[in-house]
Parts: sequence; structure tokens; C-alpha cells
Amino acid sequence: MALPITAAGFSWTHTDRDRPAVGPFDLQITAGEKVLLLGASGAGKSTFLHAVAGVLPEESGEATGELLVGGERPDPRRGSTGLVLQDPDSQVIFSRIGDDVAFGMENLGLPAETIEAQVPRSLRALGLDLPPEHPSAALSGGQKQRLALAGIHAMAPEVIVLDEPTANIDPASAAGVRDAVLTVQAETQATMLVVEHRVELWIDHVDRVIVLGRDGIVAQGPPPQIFSDPDLTETLIDCGIWMPRRSPAPRRGGTDRIGGTSGRLGEVLLRTHRLSVARPRMAAPTAAGLKLSLRAGQALGIVGANGAGKSTTALTLAGLLPEFSGQVLAEAALREGAKRARPFAWPSKQLATRIGMVFQEPAHQFLTSSVATELELGPRLAGWSAAESQARVDELLEVLGLTGLAQAHPQSLSGGEKRRLSVAAMLAPRPRVLIVDEPTFGQDALTWAGLVEMFLDALEHGSAVVAVSHDQAFLEAIGADLLELGDHSSAERFGDSESDSHVRAGERGE
Ligand SMILES: Nc1ncnc2c1ncn2[C@@H]1O[C@H](COP(=O)(O)OP(=O)(O)OP(=O)(O)O)[C@@H](O)[C@H]1O
Ligand SMILES: [Mg+2]
Repeated sequence: MALPITAAGFSWTHTDRDRPAVGPFDLQITAGEKVLLLGASGAGKSTFLHAVAGVLPEESGEATGELLVGGERPDPRRGSTGLVLQDPDSQVIFSRIGDDVAFGMENLGLPAETIEAQVPRSLRALGLDLPPEHPSAALSGGQKQRLALAGIHAMAPEVIVLDEPTANIDPASAAGVRDAVLTVQAETQATMLVVEHRVELWIDHVDRVIVLGRDGIVAQGPPPQIFSDPDLTETLIDCGIWMPRRSPAPRRGGTDRIGGTSGRLGEVLLRTHRLSVARPRMAAPTAAGLKLSLRAGQALGIVGANGAGKSTTALTLAGLLPEFSGQVLAEAALREGAKRARPFAWPSKQLATRIGMVFQEPAHQFLTSSVATELELGPRLAGWSAAESQARVDELLEVLGLTGLAQAHPQSLSGGEKRRLSVAAMLAPRPRVLIVDEPTFGQDALTWAGLVEMFLDALEHGSAVVAVSHDQAFLEAIGADLLELGDHSSAERFGDSESDSHVRAGERGE
């Protein structure tokens, strides 16, 4: 069964904003149709999906017009709509995977025997050949996304809405997650609405593309028609759509840097000595035998599958986690008066002015109540004058397309806007070493180019960048050397240290 979705003059405005987050627009999606929803970061894609799923809290804003799913106003209690959020972690609730799959069915009040029989079927349908008692915490990001889909498969909804389901998935697993989505759609015949910036992954598998602009729908039609119409090309580029089979160039400057940073390297800032890393209380390292030295002006990409230990390595290099064994050592140029050589031993104030870190999950990081004060904080703490701080804030707002949001609360931003703010706040005071975890996720082509520009600018100013990233185009654009981590996701494989992790392109220094 499937339900149609219709909108007539529909818009939604959050109470603390003066313009609609989405719409107004008219729209008709027929029962069983598969739609890819595109649009710039902040265009209102997530807001629309939440409206369709009936999870926009009524008191948080104001609607105009009408939005109907199957002829009725969306209501999550009916269970006709399955919603998959962007962040796989946020939707794993229980410690055993079977309980997660059962949750939606229990909410629908299905009998226990039905639920018990359905759980293994749905796990299998999504390629999770694991027992229901398997611990949820042991799943990789891609597996968690499949688990969320298994829960939806079990509910057999009439509408499926998915918000960037592959954004946190490594490129090798993204097609697998997409196929899992298509499996659920094929079995339920549900109407499907998916938001994703990675256009190529979906265009051969959807019936229609809808492009959301600032003031409503700017284009819609079958994918071949949308992407081959020369009259539309400019509109799509203006909306920041990633055009299929083409990667965007940075807007200005920077391109001469692509392909390597070797000509501009300065002194060594940070190096490791027989380093292995692990999360606290783990008995064995997640990654071992890490040998690297990081110079001023150098970019280093840390790559590898979900679970390979990339974030753990980044946190250890940033002095936020203790080394499992071996050492992270700051050289004189970075130490600048700090007595100890290990960043982990520095007091937080010494650390903050020398090494900037952006976590994988942006919302964990915000400290103030507006975008502008969040950006000012670092420069002011580093002792910049008010005028210098202001100029830096204005520059970052402009390049990252956040100018109109200067007074907005950080927690009220869209997914892509939050990511840009967390990166910009870290870049603002120009720390010598920048360590970033998935800096580009959730970006459209234009905001992506803005981020590249800011990183190239930091490198020009003699900072070093360590980026954990699945985004190969980004790593290429900033001329990153690559450190590839082996797959240590299963603890048994630990043991042969030096061979699993290696710097691929040009390990420099001693
Ligand atoms: N809870 C909220 N309160 C106030 N404004 C919000 C809230 N959530 C989103 N907004 C604003 O509404 C607009 C649309 O946000 P939405 O999250 O729908 O965008 P999006 O198209 O999904 O963007 P992205 O691609 O970055 O995820 C943005 O300007 C955003 O700042
Ligand atoms: Mg969104």
C-alpha cells in the first residue's frame, strides 16, 4: 500500500525566524512514486520531510496552506510514515538490535507473535544476518543505517522519508545502503521521498527529481530531463546542486594548490612516535604503528572504512585522548612556551590556542547562543582586538553563506549550516594545527567550495590540517597526503601493527 502526498500553498515558518524555512509551494506526489528532493543547504528539505512525517512540533512554528498524506493531515501515531534521520547513531535506541526493529511495530500495537516472527525477516531483508540479541553498539555506521531501515521494513509503512541516509557512510558502503532502501521500497511499494546531496547515487533509481529553492520549487521532472535541460543548468548550479559526473571547482583562487602541498611546507609542528590509539578502557588499540610528522602548510587526510579508528586517531592527535602507547609530540614551533611536549599534558587553555578540533557531531560543540558570538569566541580568547575579530567573523559568515543567520541560535540551524558553523568557529582564531572530522558532510556544491576556500586559506597562512574524511574530492582539493587506516573494526584482527596503517602519498619529515 502507498499513500499520495499533496501540498497546496504549504509553508512552514519557525517562530524565531522571519522567513519560511520551506515553501510556500504546491506539490503532488502520487502513491508509490520515488522522489529525490534536492536543494541548497538551508533550503528547507529536512523541514519538509519532518512535516510529511508529522513530527514538526506545532508550537515551534506556523504553517500556511495544506499538507496532506493520503488525504489526511500527517500524524506519526498512525504509523503510515517511516522516517530515517541523517545520523545513524541518533536512531539506535536499544542495546539489542532485535528490540530496535521491534520498536516501531510495538508502537503500532501489533501482537507479540507477529512482532517476534517479523524481526528476523526484516533483519535478513536488509542484509543483517545477525541474531536479534546482537549488541547494537557493535554495529558500524553503515550497519546502523541498515538497522534503522529494518525497523521501517518491519512496520511496512505507506510512505518512507529519508534524510541524507548515506551522508555518514563511507563511499564503498553507500551504494549498499541505497540498495537496502530500494529493497524496502520494492517490498512495501511505499511512496518514497529521499533527500541526498549525492545526486549520482540516486538518479537512476527515482521517478522524479524535485529541486527546492529559497522561495519554493524551482524545477521538477524525471532525472534525465532535469539534468540534460541546458536552460536549467544555471538554476541548478545557483542552488548548489552537485551536477552528476562533474565536481565543482573552488569559486576563486586555490586551484593552483590542487595536487600537493609539497612546495610550501614549513617547519614540523606535530609528530608521532610509535603511536597506537584506542578509546578509553579498551584492551587493544584500534589503530597501531602510526608514524607521521605534520608540517606547517601540510594537509593530511585520514581515510578508511567505518570503524577503522579514524576519529580515535584524530582525537589522539588533537591531545583530547591519551595515547594507547607511543607518543604524540609537539615541536618547538607549535609548543611556543608550553613546557610539556605532549599536547595531552597541556592545560585546556594552552591546547585551545594551538590545536583546533572539529568533532564528527557538530552540535556537541556549540557554546554560545548565536552564530556571530560563536564565531567571535575563539579570536577574542586568543586576544584579538574587537575590530580584528569582527573582520574575521564577517569574512567567515560571507564565505560560508551564513550572513543571514548571524543572530540565529546555533542549535536552530539546518544540518549543513551546523557543520559549517562548527568548522568556521574552529578556523576563526587561526590555530596552527587544525584537526577536523568529516568537515564537509551535508554540504551543497557552493557551500562545499566555501569550505575548501577557507581550508586553503588556513594552509596558506601556515596552519597544518588533519582531516578525517570520506570526501575524496575535498581531500584532493586541499592537496592532502593520505594516511589510510586498516580495518580493525573486529578486535581479533589486531596484532600486526606497522603493516595495517600507512601513509600513502609521501610521508615527510624524519
Ligand atoms: N528548529 C529550528 N528553529 C529555527 N529555524 C530552523 C530550525 N530548523 C531549521 N531552521 C531553519 O530553517 C531553514 C531550513 O532548514 P532545513 O533544516 O529544513 O534545511 P535543509 O534544506 O535540510 O538544509 P541542509 O541541507 O543543510 O540539511 C534554515 O534556514 C534553518 O536555519
Ligand atoms: Mg537537512
